[in-house]
Amino acid sequence: QKDGFRFFMEKEIYEQSDVVSDCMIGRIQDNSINFDEISPELLDGINEIKICACGTSYHAGLTSSYLFERLAKIKCNVEIASEFRYKEPLLTKDTLFIVISQSGETADTLEALKMAKKAGLKSVVVCNVDNSSMTRVADFTILTRAGIEKGVASTKAFSTQTVVLWMLALYFAKINSSISSELLQSEIKALREVPKSLIVEDRIHEKTKRLSKRYLHGHGFFFIGRDVFFPLALEGALKLKEISYLHAEGYPSGEMKHGPIALADPELFTIALMPQNLLYDKIKSNVEELSARDSTICSISSLEFELCDDFIKIQETNHYMLEFFEMLVVLQLFSMEISIRLGNDVDMPRNLAKSVTVE
Ligand code: M6R
Repeated sequence: QKDGFRFFMEKEIYEQSDVVSDCMIGRIQDNSINFDEISPELLDGINEIKICACGTSYHAGLTSSYLFERLAKIKCNVEIASEFRYKEPLLTKDTLFIVISQSGETADTLEALKMAKKAGLKSVVVCNVDNSSMTRVADFTILTRAGIEKGVASTKAFSTQTVVLWMLALYFAKINSSISSELLQSEIKALREVPKSLIVEDRIHEKTKRLSKRYLHGHGFFFIGRDVFFPLALEGALKLKEISYLHAEGYPSGEMKHGPIALADPELFTIALMPQNLLYDKIKSNVEELSARDSTICSISSLEFELCDDFIKIQETNHYMLEFFEMLVVLQLFSMEISIRLGNDVDMPRNLAKSVTVE
């Protein structure tokens, strides 16, 4: 059952390295990416990707939008399914419609998928549950192979979704000839390193336990990041909200000065995602601005920045997506440890259900 872990969430955090390895089996072969579930013709006539999802799955979608554009050079936009449903969206057949869902049953995402099908769009679902409602509606299903996820707070579903979408971006990039073989090889090399980045280090788990003691007194939290670290900041904030019931917001760090920085004070805790391999100096200057206004700042990075009050050191790597997964584990442990200290039911937080089958 829980195999000695305190909560299913904890067990599932620790499982991520293995399930991500499983999700790559047969998909990364030698030096290429392959998806037996879909065919290269899927991209025929496609100029754009639209992604729809809810909650954590939406964050995986938002992360992948950077990768689809950067690697596959396909325009990509992402929408929250409950918004998409009622906005009378303009759908054109040159758009590939991708929905992402752990359960495959989320009412709003399922309805968005049905709308796209009705409009004649080609569709793909990235899903963890075979034979779920979405897999029966979508033209193609890509399974994330995370195994059953019991904790309401999604962990291993997110890491596997993100890896699948990264591989898909590379698969599309290859079909589109939009990537050099050198870059493709270095991306595949990085992908193979993801399971290692997801191994929970005792040192890091201990550090999040220690910090949780102080950070549970926060009056509010900002999680900040840029690029793919912005959706990761959203995910960090969502994890904290849903199991600790503390107010947290994820923000693109460059946007802080357009309003939110007015809230900065020592009781406002900022968790700064500071990847060494992507826009480090930009986020550093955003952190400087917050520090000058006395916010209490904890950075997650491979480099220590002296203006931060606390520092959780991740392994040094040579790819920003590896930093992404290293930081993901820290964020998950951080929210879980705060929730445990507050005496909450980590696996079954109040007011929430694992699968949201009503709108
Ligand atoms: O099953 P789905 O991925 O469609 O679920 C979507 C959201 O309800 C889900 O990710 C939710 O936000 C999680 N509890 C977040 O941890």
